[in-house]
Amino acid sequence: MNPLLSRPQVTAILAISLDGRLARAQTPGERIASRYDFQHLEQQVAQVDAVLFGATTLRMGGTAMRLQSPHLIAEREHQGRSPQPLQIVCSASGELDPNLPFFRQPIPRALLTTEKGASRWQGSTAFDHCWCAGVEEIDWPQAFRHLQGAGIQTLAVLGGGQLLASLLHIGAVDELWLTLCPLLLGSAAPSLYPAGLEFAGTLTLLNVLPVGNEVYLHYRLHYYA
Ligand SMILES: NC(=O)c1ccc[n+]([C@@H]2O[C@H](COP(=O)([O-])OP(=O)(O)OC[C@H]3O[C@@H](n4cnc5c(N)ncnc54)[C@H](OP(=O)(O)O)[C@@H]3O)[C@@H](O)[C@H]2O)c1
Repeated sequence: MNPLLSRPQVTAILAISLDGRLARAQTPGERIASRYDFQHLEQQVAQVDAVLFGATTLRMGGTAMRLQSPHLIAEREHQGRSPQPLQIVCSASGELDPNLPFFRQPIPRALLTTEKGASRWQGSTAFDHCWCAGVEEIDWPQAFRHLQGAGIQTLAVLGGGQLLASLLHIGAVDELWLTLCPLLLGSAAPSLYPAGLEFAGTLTLLNVLPVGNEVYLHYRLHYYA
């Protein structure tokens, strides 16, 4: 990706099993990490202007990661920010069930999609923003222009693996938080590393924190020029 392209500061935050899986094969929408990890994730989400996640993650889980801690919400309001970050779902197809609980959550919502996907939501008020970037595939430079136009300077990417892989491929993830969970979920479970994942760069470990049987890893990513 053109290093001069302006985009938000992007931090990805995910929990994985020891064999790099994101969820159980039998319950693909269920969280695999501890209650502590939920608090860690909430802390990260509280710091950003917007959250981005893939359509499969939403289809499986049904909801967005909404801030629940009154303390974190009050802190944002004290800083003059909106109580909740904007929740952006990325879907090329736009095929999302409007009956998902996500659409009833008290949060601001956006859809990042293609011309094809946007046509499904024409005239709908389900999303506060419907951003069209690309005809059939997401054109990321155009997508980032939409985000910047909405004043989004910091973005948390919460997965899943496909979305993260597209952003790694174009060199658009600055920091990565990985929670290593004490599980081996097997090859049928959804993976953090989808086929074709390409990452041309290196990672610097910023911090490592063991909590119970989990390990919290914080990296900064550097891309080859
Ligand atoms: N452990 C964790 O921290 C964690 C976090 C998140 C998710 N998960 C789990 O991970 C699984 C889902 O991960 P996943 O990798 O299968 O799917 P995903 O990345 O959540 O979603 C993939 C879908 O998102 C859209 N998408 C992603 N990248 C795109 C791009 N570059 N351009 C256009 N559209 C794009 C497409 O939607 P359309 O098909 O609509 O075009 C694609 O089919 C679920 O089981 C979920 O529970 C776990």
